[in-house]
Amino acid sequence: MIEVDDVHRVYGSGRFGGRTVHALRGVSFAVERGERFGIVGESGSGKSTLIRLLAGLDRPTSGMVRFDGREVSGRSERQLRFLREQLQVVFQDPMSSLDPRMNVRQIVSEPLIGTRHPDPVGRVRELLAAVGLEAGAADRYPHQFSGGQRQRISIARALAPQPSVLIADEPVSALDVSVRAQILNLLADLVDEFALTMVFVSHDLSVVRRVCDRVAVLRDGELVEVGTTEQVYSDRAQPYTRQLVAAIPTIERALAGVDAEQLAGQVAAAGGAPEKSAPDGSAPDGSAPVGARKDEEG
Ligand SMILES: Nc1ncnc2c1ncn2[C@@H]1O[C@H](COP(=O)(O)OP(=O)(O)O)[C@@H](O)[C@H]1O
Ligand SMILES: [Mg+2]
Repeated sequence: MIEVDDVHRVYGSGRFGGRTVHALRGVSFAVERGERFGIVGESGSGKSTLIRLLAGLDRPTSGMVRFDGREVSGRSERQLRFLREQLQVVFQDPMSSLDPRMNVRQIVSEPLIGTRHPDPVGRVRELLAAVGLEAGAADRYPHQFSGGQRQRISIARALAPQPSVLIADEPVSALDVSVRAQILNLLADLVDEFALTMVFVSHDLSVVRRVCDRVAVLRDGELVEVGTTEQVYSDRAQPYTRQLVAAIPTIERALAGVDAEQLAGQVAAAGGAPEKSAPDGSAPDGSAPVGARKDEEG
């Protein structure tokens, strides 16, 4: 259903020259219909770059991306319309991906504009219920919700055009630890309910393990391993994958209430976490430090 064939993406090789970043180096894999496919790798390994290519939001420097046999790369926005209806993306940070001036009804129904949906208002009601938000949420604005609820709004919006593929790029990394499991479970339930194909991206293999059947491991722009999640998780033949498994915070350990200092000790013992912590203890992607305040979401 999705085919990625020898894709390279080099940043910064435009007419101004300067430093170039070879973000993807010859990546090839395929995702079958109905699969829940994970992409895991440390921060900066090229995951988001790859997702933008899959979603037709960016073009590879070389190589090809196909969706249902049709080339995605190199098409105009009008030609990509088929993709926008079939494939939707949920991003890491719901605050910056939701327009603060739009209410939830406008946000969720926006992908329906131009589709001649017979009942956008009814559809919004349906979608809010599907993601566990009350109908009254439609009249409120993004800042009036907690992080977990905002991610529910993003998910509702992504589901609006009835896509067959849902891509989630670190959908829980910016959320408080206490609500991560809720959002992961919601995603897994929706994928089942609507028989979606899912591509799920995370720097945390334990999170991917919760929701994916198969996983590709990305390191410095190269795929170093592709296999079933259990294979990749349990074999640990690759030192890099072993490091990802050891990488903390993992959701299980965090949920088990292991405290941050203890985790830091384990990280050091495991040879350092791939996702390095900022001085204030938060991850570089802005996710909350382990043991941070519990989210107020009920
Ligand atoms: N628009 C961009 N311009 C230049 N470099 C970029 C751009 N986007 C990402 N990069 C670089 O490409 C590499 C991969 O980034 P990214 O795909 O965001 O990784 P990940 O999502 O795995 O953290 C990093 O070195 C990053 O700094
Ligand atoms: Mg990323």
